[in-house]
Amino acid sequence: MHVLVTGGAGYIGSHAVLLLLEAGHKVSVFDNLSNSSPESLRRVREMSGSAPDLFIGDLLDSDRLDSVLSQTQPDAVIHFGGLKAVGESVQKPISYYQNNVVGTLNLVSAMEKAGVKRLVFSSSATVYAESTELPLVEGAQRDASNPYGRTKLHIEQILEDLAVSDSSWSIATLRYFNPVGAHPSGNIGEDPQGIPNNLMPFIAQVAVGRRSEVQVFGNDYPTYDGTGVRDYIHVMDLAQGHLDALDFLNSHNGQYVWNLGTGSGTSVLDVIGAFSRACGRQLPYKLVDRRPGDIAEYYGDPTTARLELGWKAERGVEEMARDMWEWQSKNPAGYPDYDLDGISEEEINEFIRGARASIVKEK
Ligand code: NAD
Ligand code: UFG
Repeated sequence: MHVLVTGGAGYIGSHAVLLLLEAGHKVSVFDNLSNSSPESLRRVREMSGSAPDLFIGDLLDSDRLDSVLSQTQPDAVIHFGGLKAVGESVQKPISYYQNNVVGTLNLVSAMEKAGVKRLVFSSSATVYAESTELPLVEGAQRDASNPYGRTKLHIEQILEDLAVSDSSWSIATLRYFNPVGAHPSGNIGEDPQGIPNNLMPFIAQVAVGRRSEVQVFGNDYPTYDGTGVRDYIHVMDLAQGHLDALDFLNSHNGQYVWNLGTGSGTSVLDVIGAFSRACGRQLPYKLVDRRPGDIAEYYGDPTTARLELGWKAERGVEEMARDMWEWQSKNPAGYPDYDLDGISEEEINEFIRGARASIVKEK
């Protein structure tokens, strides 16, 4: 298949692009590189032996989307592109609604014009209402508590309406729990800008000496050790779920929703413990107040994905920590920071393909 991947240079996208290329698919990436580097795709090409084509473009530029979709005529689209920081979404709701909701509307409208009606969408467990009934099943009540979560909820609803309006659409909404880890080679991984908001990237930076200690937000939650409990999922398992969803959509029309999680929860202290074992020293941490807006515990029920897709998370927290450590210790400062000013899309693609080593200069 030829798959267009929006946000394909980013954290989860780059792992999915790698698996798609390894499975023999042709891949085009549509990304504005606002939160990623072409270096991820260069490494993906080194690892897989084949290069994706990068189209540098913004989901808010509907003319560009129209032309890329009609030019590439993909069989399917996987849509990772968008903004994802909960705290920032409270400060910049317009930007979040624009990039995520308007960006998705532009995408599906460009797909419709090009006659491409197969879509896999990155949703989030954040669309679930706070619930005492765990694990969360796909039919659980939805309600988001911040602008980021509301963008995902609105997009889910838009995609539902679209599938009802035209039965030739095939749409998979994947609700991710907490994606962590990296490719086991440590060549690609998560490269957050600034201070990481999420637990595992923060711990990884403590392990590599960039930060002094982990702050544990609250130890008086009604959980097994008092700290927050989440359903962490290895990014390689998550990426595989996208390939399985694509296979399913090849033979099914309509709209489907699947939780992608492990089905069990791990506490903050247990994640710190796993990471300490991975890096070979006890990582320092301090118990501090709860983080406003956090809930005690949630984890998903992945049974539907297992029954309908044959998908199941294979890797546990020890592997998540081990692979994250491999990435972080090999790349303590993340990807190199390139200055792309004045460098053309063709030159960046040559860099990704390995045909041009010097054109992308390091800052
Ligand atoms: P990421 O920031 O690493 O990747 C997103 C990519 O989209 C980046 O490469 C960025 O440059 C690109 N992008 C952003 N806005 C764009 C725009 N307007 N036009 C074109 N490209 C744009 O994030 P990620 O962690 O890989 O997340 C991928 C998707 O998964 C997102 O939709 C995110 O909301 C969703 N998700 C992530 C998590 C998580 O914890 N990482 C959890 C649930 C859902
Ligand atoms: N935590 C700490 N210290 C930190 C960071 C986090 O103790 O420095 C704790 C939190 O309180 C929580 C747990 O670690 O108990 C996980 O926190 P994360 O920030 O890693 O993840 P969240 O579950 O809060 O949120 C994440 C993403 C959201 C997404 C959600 C569900 O950030 O975008 O998972 O998919 F919506």
